[in-house]
Amino acid sequence: MRDSYFFNFPSLEELENVVKELKLDIPFSTNIDLLKEKIEINGKSLNNRMAIHPMEGCDATLNGSPSELTERRYMRYTKGLAGLIWFEATAVSESARANNQQLFLNTYTFDDFAKLVNMMKEKALKDNKHAPYLVLQLAHSGRFGENKVIAVHDEKLDKISKINFSYPVITDKELEELKQSYVNTAKLAKNAGFDAVDVKSCHRYLLSELLGARIREGEYGGDYENRTKFLKDVVNRIKDEVGIEVAVRLNISDFLHYPIGWGINEQGELDLAEPLKLIGELKERGVNLINITAGSPYINPHINRPADGESKKYTPPEPPLVGVERLIKLAKEVQSSITDLIVVGTGLSWLREFFPYVASGMVKKGYAKIIGLGRMAFAYPDFAKDIIEKNMLDKNKVCITCVRCAELKAHKKITGCVIRDKDVYLKPYMEMIREKK
Ligand SMILES: Cc1cc2nc3c(=O)[nH]c(=O)nc-3n(C[C@H](O)[C@H](O)[C@H](O)COP(=O)(O)O)c2cc1C
Ligand code: SF4
Repeated sequence: MRDSYFFNFPSLEELENVVKELKLDIPFSTNIDLLKEKIEINGKSLNNRMAIHPMEGCDATLNGSPSELTERRYMRYTKGLAGLIWFEATAVSESARANNQQLFLNTYTFDDFAKLVNMMKEKALKDNKHAPYLVLQLAHSGRFGENKVIAVHDEKLDKISKINFSYPVITDKELEELKQSYVNTAKLAKNAGFDAVDVKSCHRYLLSELLGARIREGEYGGDYENRTKFLKDVVNRIKDEVGIEVAVRLNISDFLHYPIGWGINEQGELDLAEPLKLIGELKERGVNLINITAGSPYINPHINRPADGESKKYTPPEPPLVGVERLIKLAKEVQSSITDLIVVGTGLSWLREFFPYVASGMVKKGYAKIIGLGRMAFAYPDFAKDIIEKNMLDKNKVCITCVRCAELKAHKKITGCVIRDKDVYLKPYMEMIREKK
């Protein structure tokens, strides 16, 4: 069914028909009021069940502060009325940075972060009498950062990271020291006014790589306990020493091979026993908010962010609807096994103007309690406002999953929507094309 490889649905009914033909577990509901419901997280009330996922904009100043462009993005999100805004990957140390355009919260940049948080809350309170819940994603870019910090070797991943087999692996002592950077950054985040921090553990960045480090020796590799120790230690320390709420954006599976894959068994099949055990243990430690994701943009992007791409350059290896269903099912597995957890679902941007019906279906069926949007937020930062006020989306404003924003990020250009925010992002995209020639 070649048609299902690219988004081409003139009506919701036609989308539902293809979902049926492909026998996919993608729920629909036309009761989009479900997305407008308030929901409580850690004693704070969110105005609705819509979230903006962390999306790196590669527009920080050299020292890691939010720039004018970063402010523009977050103020557009604020005006867009989503109940939860999950700040993008923000480095916990200079060596953890993906590049010198990534946000980095430290004592020198603290005032600029605090100013931005304050501006967002003031604006939201003034216009809407309700501030969004703000989560800061604490990140270490691991093998995909400029410093290329790796937890294990793997032929395929090392090739992608352009390192050879003699490249040193981060030591246990260095990992021990790194925990302090997470605690320090969480303290600054609390003082800057964030409601929670996310100990980012996804997409095969450093903490995510540790979860699959079966072949690593020492305290942080081998069995389940060792592989999950770093994340659990950091969560414990932030809880005890900082007292800010902790959330986790977690790869439920990397969909990589055994023995380096997480959420994969010896037969190479998806196996959620360990991820579900970890989420249960995090919940016992007071982590009530889990943002579901999978795969890696560098290795298996069709799993991480279902996309049409550009027909000439990228043909998805599966109908993107299969990728959408995969992410929905992972959220469902987690939400149904720990019902008092707040699961944030991912991967709906491909559905364009029809995503609210699937998001409502997910809420209705109990597959997730909050629905997050990534690329859609770049393209259409006020999607939530239109859902709340107009009960529908404008199809001329939706993301078309062309992944040009991801190309910008990969080429370290300021990143945003090349299609719907042309005035800012078309120029860097054209520059990138010229440089590639
Ligand atoms: C340009 C770009 C930047 C991203 N930055 C982050 C990030 O900082 N942290 C993160 O966890 N995920 C990041 N993601 C992944 C998204 O949050 C999201 O999981 C993915 O795009 C799928 O959701 P969607 O279909 O709504 O876009 C990024 C994705 C893109 C395309
Ligand atoms: S460039 Fe715009 S339309 Fe294309 S994937 Fe990114 S956000 Fe969507």
